[in-house]
Amino acid sequence: MATRSPWPRPLSLPCCCLLLLALGGPGFFQSHAVEVNVKDLSNNTCIYAEWMMSFLIKYETNSSEYKNATLKPSTNVTHDGSTCGNNTHAPLLAIQFGAGHSWSINFTKTNETYQGNIISFTYNTNDAVFKDAKTKGPITIVVKDPMHPVQLNTVYKCHHLDSIEVANVSLFFWNVTLQAFVQNGTVSKNDSTCEADKSTVAPTTVANLTTAPITTASSPLPTTTSKPVEKPLIGNYSLKDGDKICLLATMGLQLNVSQEKPVLININPKTTNVTGSCGNTSAILRLNDSNKRFIDFTFAVKNTSANTQRFYLKEVNITLISSINGSEPLNAGNNNLSIWDTFLGSSYMCQKEQTVLVTEDLQIHTFDLRIQPFKVQDNKYSKAEECFADSDLNFLIPIAVGVALGFLIILVFISYVIGRRKSRTGYQSV
Ligand SMILES: *[C@@H]1O[C@H](CO)[C@@H](O)[C@H](O)[C@H]1NC(C)=O
Ligand SMILES: *[C@@H]1O[C@H](CO)[C@@H](O)[C@H](O)[C@H]1NC(C)=O
Ligand SMILES: *[C@@H]1O[C@H](CO)[C@@H](O)[C@H](O)[C@H]1NC(C)=O
Ligand SMILES: *[C@@H]1O[C@H](CO)[C@@H](O)[C@H](O)[C@H]1NC(C)=O
Ligand SMILES: *[C@@H]1O[C@H](CO)[C@@H](O)[C@H](O)[C@H]1NC(C)=O
Ligand SMILES: *[C@@H]1O[C@H](CO)[C@@H](O)[C@H](O)[C@H]1NC(C)=O
Ligand SMILES: *[C@@H]1O[C@H](CO)[C@@H](O)[C@H](O)[C@H]1NC(C)=O
Ligand SMILES: *[C@@H]1O[C@H](CO)[C@@H](O)[C@H](O)[C@H]1NC(C)=O
Ligand SMILES: *[C@@H]1O[C@H](CO)[C@@H](O)[C@H](O)[C@H]1NC(C)=O
Ligand SMILES: *[C@@H]1O[C@H](CO)[C@@H](O)[C@H](O)[C@H]1NC(C)=O
Ligand SMILES: *[C@@H]1O[C@H](CO)[C@@H](O)[C@H](O)[C@H]1NC(C)=O
Repeated sequence: MATRSPWPRPLSLPCCCLLLLALGGPGFFQSHAVEVNVKDLSNNTCIYAEWMMSFLIKYETNSSEYKNATLKPSTNVTHDGSTCGNNTHAPLLAIQFGAGHSWSINFTKTNETYQGNIISFTYNTNDAVFKDAKTKGPITIVVKDPMHPVQLNTVYKCHHLDSIEVANVSLFFWNVTLQAFVQNGTVSKNDSTCEADKSTVAPTTVANLTTAPITTASSPLPTTTSKPVEKPLIGNYSLKDGDKICLLATMGLQLNVSQEKPVLININPKTTNVTGSCGNTSAILRLNDSNKRFIDFTFAVKNTSANTQRFYLKEVNITLISSINGSEPLNAGNNNLSIWDTFLGSSYMCQKEQTVLVTEDLQIHTFDLRIQPFKVQDNKYSKAEECFADSDLNFLIPIAVGVALGFLIILVFISYVIGRRKSRTGYQSV
């Protein structure tokens, strides 16, 4: 309490109403809306806000790896320090949650508009979700709110998922209802809808989406329209080391995300950026699609007992910041893979569709895959080792033909021998 004394007298927080609405969404990404009603001393509302929020935080572990933790304000959210402000101090919306985490935003206004100004977020790595963190204690990040100015006396509404990335933290907001500088203690009846929500309704943008048709759980329509999803476009991706290509990848990518129900998402290579890193024993290919989807492939080199070296796909890590309409950001990874195993110096090829299991709820389908994460020579693929699914056909057919031919030869031979015997016995009998 004492530490919050910078906001003492004039207009402060008798505000009671912190409503936590448990939402239906099952599973790990279950979330709660936070509702805060900041009132002045005469119990007039000055800030009203209801929103959903979560944080994705990258931290270093005691074994010098990086891991992600997710935080979200759920139960036991308090709003100490929230204030209506005065002529010299800006109104502030502040919440505290979990094991020592806090978040706040202050607001400014002009004659016509108001907007968020500075966002401050403190997370405490003493929380059990960071149990293997290298450094313990509170870490604060401060960032300017990117929200556009909103007409005074209107309620800002935005269902669309928005995110802010700063330092090792991604903040996600969605389903926001907010009014600062509420006049006469009455939340306005007029809304200001964010641009993103307006555009998601427009059919033109829907047509531009590369995602599969989505049928949300709330949709009253039966799923009779579930069309087969098209095969994704094939993309050529490469990384350079200086002016030489050091990693080559060709593939069509499709994600199968099961949050409420499975949804297939095709990655459009035309709007996907490539970053990553090459190395002698480890390489990372990071694809960043324009819909804020990040897919990291980590390749490694291993020594075999036969004293040769092979590479393989070791880890896949996916972050869907705005994954599916209305659903939460998702981060999932599997660092225990051992697929696409190929001689170092060759490329791996699989034209058949393949599935990479990332988690129970997230799969990647690859199409027309060819990849060479190490030892690329002259900016082009080395000879390919084909996956079993492909080679299946390629070598079983010749073998089958060979075996059949072999049989034929043996048959001909046997009948020849028998024929000779018969004719010989024939001669004798005569
Ligand atoms: C405005 O509010 C701040 C903090 O809440 C306080 O320190 C300051 O004295 C107030 N100023 C006036 C003029 O009331
Ligand atoms: C404001 O509301 C609280 C609780 O609802 C009440 O205890 C308090 O007396 C009210 N204050 C004024 C000035 O009306
Ligand atoms: C943030 O990440 C960088 C590496 O990306 C790391 O060096 C730094 O220590 C991290 N900061 C914190 C506070 O974890
Ligand atoms: C995914 O990669 C990030 C770093 O890019 C790392 O912090 C995180 O732990 C990885 N997640 C998984 C599940 O491997
Ligand atoms: C890292 O922290 C975890 C959790 O506290 C602990 O079990 C583990 O032994 C630590 N590892 C190292 C290398 O210190
Ligand atoms: C607030 O009250 C004042 C005086 O009663 C009135 O002039 C003004 O229009 C009211 N504002 C709103 C937004 O209702
Ligand atoms: C990818 O590269 C190959 C070989 O250079 C080329 O044949 C193919 O058309 C390219 N595909 C796309 C989609 O650019
Ligand atoms: C997508 O994943 C779900 C859940 O794992 C699975 O039931 C479904 O068959 C998958 N769909 C495709 C097209 O692979
Ligand atoms: C593989 O063998 C090479 C030398 O033969 C060695 O330098 C390297 O450390 C080995 N790598 C692993 C992962 O064992
Ligand atoms: C996305 O969500 C918004 C608000 O929840 C809804 O109005 C819209 O119909 C949804 N769009 C799709 C494609 O489900
Ligand atoms: C967003 O809010 C609407 C109602 O305003 C609710 O139906 C929907 O489930 C919420 N979306 C999420 C992801 O919580």
